[in-house]
Amino acid sequence: MEKTKVGIVFGGQSGEHEVSLMSSASVIKVMDKTKYDIIPIGITKEGNWNLFLGDISKIEDGSWPDEAVPALLSPDPNHKCIITLIDGKESRYYLDVVFPVLHGPRGEDGTVQSLFEMMNIPYVSCGVTSSALCMDKVFSKKILEQNGLPIVDYKVFYKRELLVRMPEIISELEDYLGYPCFVKPANLGSSVGISKARNREELKSALMIAAQYDIKVLVEKFIDAREIECSVLGNDEPKASLPGEIIPSRDFYDYTAKYSDGDKSKLLLPAPVSRKDVSRIQELAVKAFTALDCSGMARVDFLMSKVSGNIYINELNTIPGFTKISMYPKMWEVSGLSYKDLIDELIEFAFERHRQKNELKLA
Ligand SMILES: Nc1ncnc2c1ncn2[C@@H]1O[C@H](COP(=O)(O)OP(=O)(O)O)[C@@H](O)[C@H]1O
Ligand SMILES: [Mg+2]
Repeated sequence: MEKTKVGIVFGGQSGEHEVSLMSSASVIKVMDKTKYDIIPIGITKEGNWNLFLGDISKIEDGSWPDEAVPALLSPDPNHKCIITLIDGKESRYYLDVVFPVLHGPRGEDGTVQSLFEMMNIPYVSCGVTSSALCMDKVFSKKILEQNGLPIVDYKVFYKRELLVRMPEIISELEDYLGYPCFVKPANLGSSVGISKARNREELKSALMIAAQYDIKVLVEKFIDAREIECSVLGNDEPKASLPGEIIPSRDFYDYTAKYSDGDKSKLLLPAPVSRKDVSRIQELAVKAFTALDCSGMARVDFLMSKVSGNIYINELNTIPGFTKISMYPKMWEVSGLSYKDLIDELIEFAFERHRQKNELKLA
C-alpha cells in the first residue's frame, strides 16, 4: 500500500516558535513510518520556508536551520508539493495532507490555513474562518455569547480610543468590571501582553502594554478560578475528552509559568471535579467547538470559579501544544486514546473534511 505523504509544518514566526519545535519533533517521532512518509517543512523565525530532512534531534535543539534547504510551498492546486532548487535542479516533494504544528499568529489564526486552501490540500485542525475566529478573543466571545454559552464579562477598546480618551475608558471599566481585572491583546497567545490590573495605575499601564501587541484590547472581569481544559476531536460529531486541570506556579498562568518555570505548574489528569461538572464541561466544550465551526481539534479552556463553582469558557486553541506530555494529547490519553492513534485520527478527519468540501458544487 502506498504511504500517505504528510507535510509537518513546524517553527514559524510567532512567540511560540520553540513550543512548535518540541510539538512537531514529538509528532514526527511517534508517527508510524510504515504508514506515512513524513516531509518536515520548517519555517524559521524570520519566516523562511525550508525542507528539513535531517535528524529530529536538530528540530528539538533548534539547530535544524543549519541543514535545511530553502523551499517553496506552491499555492497552485495542480502542484500540491514543496519545491526545492539546488544548483539549478528543481525537486518536488508531493504532499497528500499537511499537519501545521504551528502555534499563535500565522500558525493557528487562519493565515497558513488559507495557503492550504489555495493548494486544495487536506490539513489538520480547523479551517480558515474557524481558526481566525478562535484566535480573536473578541470575535470568539461574541459567537459564544450569541450561542448562549457562558463567558466572563468583558469590554473591548481599540488602541486609537485608548490614546484619545483613556480617563473615560478607565472610569467606564471601574464602573463595569472593577478591580482586579484582566487586560489582553485580542489576537495573541502564550499569555504575551496579558496583565492583571489591581488598581487604576496598573490598569492604565496594562492597557498600554496590551496595545503594543494588538490594535484591539480586551478587558475582562477577574475570576478567582480553577483552570480546567478539555480536548475536543472530530468533525460532524465532535467528542470531548475527560477534562484536565492546571495549577499554575504563579499568580496566573502567565508566560513564565507556561514555559520557563520548569515543572512547577501542576497538571492534574483527569481534573478532580465531580461527575456532574465533567458532563457540564464536556457539553460546553462540544457546544463551543460547534459554535465556532471548528473541525479536527481544539482545546477548550475554562475558568471555574472557586467561589460559585460557575464554569466559564475562556478560550479555544485550535493548534494546542502537542508534545507527548502536552495537555491536549494527555487528556485524550487518560480518556483512552493514545498519542499515536490521536494523530492517525486527526489525519483522517483532515481527509474527511477535504472530501466533504470537494463534493460540493462550487462556483
Ligand atoms: N478573566 C480572568 N480571570 C482570571 N484569570 C484569568 C482571566 N483571563 C485569563 N486569566 C489567566 O491568564 C491566563 C492567560 O489568559 P488566556 O486568555 O488564556 O490567554 P492566552 O491565549 O495567552 O493563553 C489564563 O490561563 C489564566 O491564568
Ligand atoms: Mg490560554
